[in-house]
Amino acid sequence: MIGLPSILSFAAVVGSTVSADCTRAFLQNATAQYVGAQSSGNPALLTVLATNASYIESEKPVSIRTGVLSQPMKIDHNRSIHDTTNCATFTELIVTNPSKPYVIGTRMLFTGNQITTIESIATHPGDWAFNATGYLYWDSLENWDPIPAAKQDSRAVIQTAGDAYFNRFGNVNITVPWDTPCARLEGGAYTGANNLTGETCDLGLPSTTVVTNRRFVIDETLGAVDIFLGFPGLDRSQGDKPMPDSHLFRVEGGKIRYIHTVSSCVEAGCGLNRTGPP
Ligand SMILES: *[C@@H]1O[C@H](CO)[C@@H](O)[C@H](O)[C@H]1NC(C)=O
Ligand SMILES: *[C@@H]1O[C@H](CO)[C@@H](O)[C@H](O)[C@H]1NC(C)=O
Ligand SMILES: *[C@@H]1O[C@H](CO)[C@@H](O)[C@H](O)[C@H]1NC(C)=O
Ligand SMILES: *[C@@H]1O[C@H](CO)[C@@H](O)[C@H](O)[C@H]1NC(C)=O
Ligand SMILES: *[C@@H]1O[C@H](CO)[C@@H](O)[C@H](O)[C@H]1NC(C)=O
Ligand SMILES: *[C@@H]1O[C@H](CO)[C@@H](O)[C@H](O)[C@H]1NC(C)=O
Ligand SMILES: *[C@@H]1O[C@H](CO)[C@@H](O)[C@H](O)[C@H]1NC(C)=O
Repeated sequence: MIGLPSILSFAAVVGSTVSADCTRAFLQNATAQYVGAQSSGNPALLTVLATNASYIESEKPVSIRTGVLSQPMKIDHNRSIHDTTNCATFTELIVTNPSKPYVIGTRMLFTGNQITTIESIATHPGDWAFNATGYLYWDSLENWDPIPAAKQDSRAVIQTAGDAYFNRFGNVNITVPWDTPCARLEGGAYTGANNLTGETCDLGLPSTTVVTNRRFVIDETLGAVDIFLGFPGLDRSQGDKPMPDSHLFRVEGGKIRYIHTVSSCVEAGCGLNRTGPP
């Protein structure tokens, strides 16, 4: 929990007159507000923020007034998914400013018509495979258009595809529903770089890693599920301590088409003594 400046309390009161309750339009307004607030570095622009909302960065509560959301930045790309069933959203932001680049993943939770939790992973140089220019470039080649209604997967199918990926981390016998093509974007490194039409997601996965604390945001319209999770062993300097991580999946016809990761390290390079992936 955090204390908010009085302007936020005022704004929250005004925002509470919004009558929409977790419709797509309401959630889209909220993510647009979030992107605008981050762009301006002004959390007070979030008029639908609850006065006692939790603000968390990389699994730690911090003050919204001094956190990343209070830093203005030129956002080169934003994409949001909206979960009208669980009243939650996920937003991907890319900032290529060479003097302060970021790739940010943010999950927001709503109760009634207010944001009650904002949870971000704000990656920067030194985090897993970080390259904001690369993230923007590969992202721009992908198609995340809404899926036609007749072809949309159910929530369960979309969630199962994302879950299978992480279940496979702890059990080699789990079959992950890879699509062809399939590509994974990690920090800025792209598995599809050498073959955009190939299935380049199945390049080897851990087999004894138990991924913890999975939190889902599911959008049937975009065929997307984002999972916030704890990734044990990601940072080699931290032993098996679960690291803050977000994986955004695009699922088409029950199969994984794209994966976007936002993975934070404690030590620059995650204890691998370099910033690239292993
Ligand atoms: C979205 O925001 C617009 C402009 O602020 C407002 O007119 C509209 O009522 C909002 N819609 C919902 C569903 O909150
Ligand atoms: C925030 O305030 C609301 C309304 O007063 C209350 O229902 C809710 O439990 C509070 N949340 C937290 C995290 O304290
Ligand atoms: C977010 O992206 C949309 C297009 O998807 C764009 O219209 C909007 O201006 C972007 N917002 C910011 C603050 O960059
Ligand atoms: C980042 O990605 C861009 C686009 O793929 C590439 O040109 C550049 O060499 C990469 N930078 C590093 C440091 O890997
Ligand atoms: C995977 O399947 C093989 C062959 O059936 C079996 O020997 C092995 O114990 C299984 N591994 C796990 C982790 O379930
Ligand atoms: C790329 O992947 C496709 C589909 O698997 C395959 O047919 C093709 O040979 C691959 N191209 C290269 C250059 O590996
Ligand atoms: C990284 O470098 C440190 C200090 O030089 C060393 O102790 C550590 O073993 C190295 N880690 C790896 C994974 O190479």
